[in-house]
Amino acid sequence: MTDSNTSTGYIKVAKRLSDIPPYLFQRIDDMKSEARATGLDLISLGIGDPDLPTPPELVDELYEQSKLNANQKYPNFKGIPEFRKAVADFYNRRFGVELDPVDEVLALIGSKEGIANLALSVLDPEDIVIVPDPSYPVYAMLSVFAGCRKFVVPLKEENGFLIDWSAIPDDIARQTKLVWMNYPNNPTSAVAPIEFFDEAVQWAKKWGVILAHDNPYSEIYQQDDPPPSLLSAKGAKEVGVEFNSLSKSFNMTGWRIGMVVGNRDVVQALARVKSNIDSGVFVPIQKVAVKALNMPAAHGEELRKIYAGRRKACENALEEAGYEVYHGKGTFYLWAKTPKGMKSFDFVSKLIMKTGIVVGPGSGWGEQGEGYFRICLTRDEQSLADAVKVIAENFPAK
Ligand SMILES: Cc1ncc(COP(=O)(O)O)c(C=O)c1O
Repeated sequence: MTDSNTSTGYIKVAKRLSDIPPYLFQRIDDMKSEARATGLDLISLGIGDPDLPTPPELVDELYEQSKLNANQKYPNFKGIPEFRKAVADFYNRRFGVELDPVDEVLALIGSKEGIANLALSVLDPEDIVIVPDPSYPVYAMLSVFAGCRKFVVPLKEENGFLIDWSAIPDDIARQTKLVWMNYPNNPTSAVAPIEFFDEAVQWAKKWGVILAHDNPYSEIYQQDDPPPSLLSAKGAKEVGVEFNSLSKSFNMTGWRIGMVVGNRDVVQALARVKSNIDSGVFVPIQKVAVKALNMPAAHGEELRKIYAGRRKACENALEEAGYEVYHGKGTFYLWAKTPKGMKSFDFVSKLIMKTGIVVGPGSGWGEQGEGYFRICLTRDEQSLADAVKVIAENFPAK
């Protein structure tokens, strides 16, 4: 009998897979299984998946919409007109950005899907793609899939984790096709002011580069201080697109719905690629998204209040224990320095195996993340404070 876990030796998978390290959370999952096997109860603060439920009125809407026979068919590739209009209206209300719902908005099966397929849509082998470090690993991986060269730009704490455009050599800029940006930023929690995006647009126009801004945390910010969209910058639509998602803003990570908006050439190129790969987002989910995007402002305010309380509780507990914390203004992540002398992965693996508490190792988001760890604020204030207490007792900061 063949052991299904053993390679038979007949199959040769694509060479490009050898350039891809295992997905960060896969490695953490393996450690979690080991820890569980030793009898530890796990406290997961590692993956950016909100503990809060999807608003019940949205769940009810899914049920109602699913009952309709017309909604059970193949969806249209680009997203139903109602969804694209709701996205355009949302961008107008929230950012003052005008979008043509017909060809400047496209529905995605979560923003990750669009980010991945963008590589096939606009990149040719050997193009240079600029990827920030640290950053969401999918940007770099998909450049590898597309056969591109990547140029890594460090995000430094002393720079507010912003890209320093002046540090990109002219020779690299000349060969660059695409730049990835993400603010509010995962993993650092930094936000970018409009001046940063203005500079990005000027730089992109000078060098003929596409700007791809990933903005799934657009609604998770410090109350009364909403961060801008890339598209809020003057002329941004001439060079840029923005990815957004309902995953984090409406506690809908499992539902898989997002959008790309902005430059019509890029949006349409992505639509062409996608029409050959997937068959769109289930119509009832798009209808739910319309309802979500039109929810009263109170929903977002409540969400921000909850995360602000958690951030404060967690920051206070860490700082009382002597940990160095970056005071970010967006996302539901907290970015902090590992205990003195401990490397990120070493700290995280020992933490999991000793306490069952799971946090993200900074180096999982790139070399510049070395020496940091990321806590997801996806537990209530008390649980976060308790978890930090256990971390500090077992791993003193100094
Ligand atoms: C920076 C960033 N971009 C994109 C995604 C993917 O989100 P979605 O659920 O919309 O695919 C995530 C998820 O954690 C993320 O952190």
